[in-house]
Order: sequence, then C-alpha cells, then structure tokens
Amino acid sequence: METYENLERFISPKEISSDKCIDTGLRPKSFQEFIGQKKIVNNIEVMVKSAKIRKKAMDHVLFSGPPGLGKTSLALLISNELGSDLQVISGPAVEKKGDLAAILTNLNEGDVLFIDEIHRMHISVEEILYSAMEDFRLDIVIGQGPSARTMKIDIAPFTLIGATTKSGLLSNPLRDRFMAHLHFDFYDPQDLAQIIDNNKKKLNVVLDKDAKETISICARGTPRIANRILRRVRDFALVQNQEVVTKKEVDESLKLMEIDSYGLDRMDRKILQVIQEYYAGGPVGIEALCATLAEDRCTIEDVYEPYLLKEGFILRTPRGRMISEKGKGML
Ligand SMILES: Nc1ncnc2c1ncn2[C@@H]1O[C@H](COP(=O)(O)OP(=O)(O)OP(=O)(O)O)[C@@H](O)[C@H]1O
Ligand SMILES: [Mg+2]
Repeated sequence: METYENLERFISPKEISSDKCIDTGLRPKSFQEFIGQKKIVNNIEVMVKSAKIRKKAMDHVLFSGPPGLGKTSLALLISNELGSDLQVISGPAVEKKGDLAAILTNLNEGDVLFIDEIHRMHISVEEILYSAMEDFRLDIVIGQGPSARTMKIDIAPFTLIGATTKSGLLSNPLRDRFMAHLHFDFYDPQDLAQIIDNNKKKLNVVLDKDAKETISICARGTPRIANRILRRVRDFALVQNQEVVTKKEVDESLKLMEIDSYGLDRMDRKILQVIQEYYAGGPVGIEALCATLAEDRCTIEDVYEPYLLKEGFILRTPRGRMISEKGKGML
C-alpha cells in the first residue's frame, strides 16, 4: 500500500521504497536499451572497449546529475559489459577508514566499485581513495605518535565509478583522479517516449499514442518518474477494466496525483507560489526559501530546483532565486 507521504512525493525523482522493485525490473539490459545521453554512452563504450583490448581495468569515471537519470543503471551496464563484478556502496554509509579498506582489498582485478553520493563521503575515509585510485595501493597508518608507521598494501586494479548529485562539492584531489567526468542531463520527451515504449511491454500495458506523449511530457525529463507514472497508469487502467490506456486515463491519474501538464507537482508549485507571494517574486536567498518551505536545502537544491531552472520557471541570480514570467504563468 502506498503511504500518503509517497503519494505526496510521487513526482520526486528521488528513489522511494516502491521504486526498488520497478527500478530493478525496468533497468536497461544493454547499451542499446539505454536510451538518450548519447555523448555519455559513446564515451563509455570507447572506454569499455579499450579496457577489454588492453585487458586492464577501465579508467575511473565520475557521473554527475540530478536523481533518477540513469547513473546506477549505466554503472550496472558497464560492469556487465566488462564481465566483472559490481560492488555498490553509498558514500555517507562508510563511516570508518577500515570499512573502505576492507572493501577495496576484497576487490578482484577489473571489478567495478560504484560509490553513490560520493560527495558525502567523510574526508578521512575519502583520503584512502587517493592512493587506491592512483596507484592501486592503500597507505595505512598504524599506531600513533613517534611509533606510527605507514603500511602499504597493494590492491587489485579496479574501476571506481563515483556518482554525485553535486559535483561542485567534490574535493579537488578526488575530482582530479577521475579520468572522465560525465554529466547526465534531463531527457527530452522523445527519449522518454522511447523508454516508455520499451517498458510498457515489460509491464504488460497497452497505451495509445496520446497517452504515451502525455506521460513523456509530464515526467520532468526523468526516466524514473516516467516509469512511476507508467506503473500508476497501469494500475488505474486495471482497476477500471480498461484494455487500452488512453489520454483520458493518463489525465485522470495525473490529476489524482496532483501533477499538472508541465509535470510540476504540489511542491514545485509551492516553491513558485512562495517566491511570488511571500517574497514579491524574489530575489530570495536559498536559506530563507527553505525555511519558509520547511524543507532542507539539499532537497530543494538537488531534487526540485534543477528542473525548475532548466525549464526557466525560476532564475538563479547572485542575490537569490527569482520567479520568471513563465513561472508566474503557472500560478
Ligand atoms: N537511459 C535510460 N534508458 C532507459 N531507462 C532508464 C534510463 N535511465 C534511467 N532509466 C530508468 O530509470 C530508473 C532510475 O535510474 P537510476 O536508478 O539508474 O538513476 P540514478 O541516476 O542512479 O538515480 P539516483 O541519483 O537517485 O541514484 C531505472 O530503473 C531505469 O529503469
Ligand atoms: Mg542511483
């Protein structure tokens, strides 16, 4: 059963618990199935091929971009294509140096280590990565004071894939150790329509053309949201005993979910409304905005703002956020 909170956050590109099963089922299984982000895929294909020819580990890469755009999916594809194991960890979850050292020493040659939210890794843990990435070696200090010694442990050559929603927060030494920095952008509606086409078969749902178009426009340029809407629409049609889903069912379910025809949800509209009504259209500093919305800064900056900025509903100025004419038109 979907909780109220999940319903409220329906449009959020952040992963919610019910995504876990659909994300796994709907993940692209090959580079061909990975739609869009052509520049990134082309780069990765060359790197993978080169690693296979050299018979060495692929170079380290950094993925950045808003949530739900395919970072984890692409990391999985890379490890499949390399025929190696993938180990996934979350940056903030690794609390001690020793934990990361244990993970690194357990890797086999050519394995892929995927670190999600790498910008939130503790600095003392992060330092272990510097020599591991550069020389495939761990420098560990044993003991304290005058008797302290450094121990060097060799580890198997591996590939680090770092994922971050905020590449600006990465420390310079860490960023410099990635050979490629690839930024994920929002998908255009055509790409989303293609993803919907591939996934409707997997979900066993029949959609007409208008229904597909509406979902691809309302999905905020985010495949995770397109998949979520697709699944909801399927449930809706099942309950209403409708064999082919038409635009009418899509519109009705989007209305129930409080998503408008631009893909904006209640929180997006609330952000626009607060800037307009409380701050006379802005500019308003991010801290003041977050306090009024009772949301934390990371959520506003990483989850909501990128799409509002990309679509030009709000503007970022040195003095804070402002609502644009287009944004005013949404109220
Ligand atoms: N290019 C793509 N082609 C097809 N499906 C995609 C693509 N990118 C993402 N998806 C779908 O979107 C879902 C979410 O993608 P994924 O988990 O890889 O995002 P993410 O960038 O890792 O998000 P987060 O930052 O929250 O970890 C996947 O399960 C997959 O079904
Ligand atoms: Mg992910």
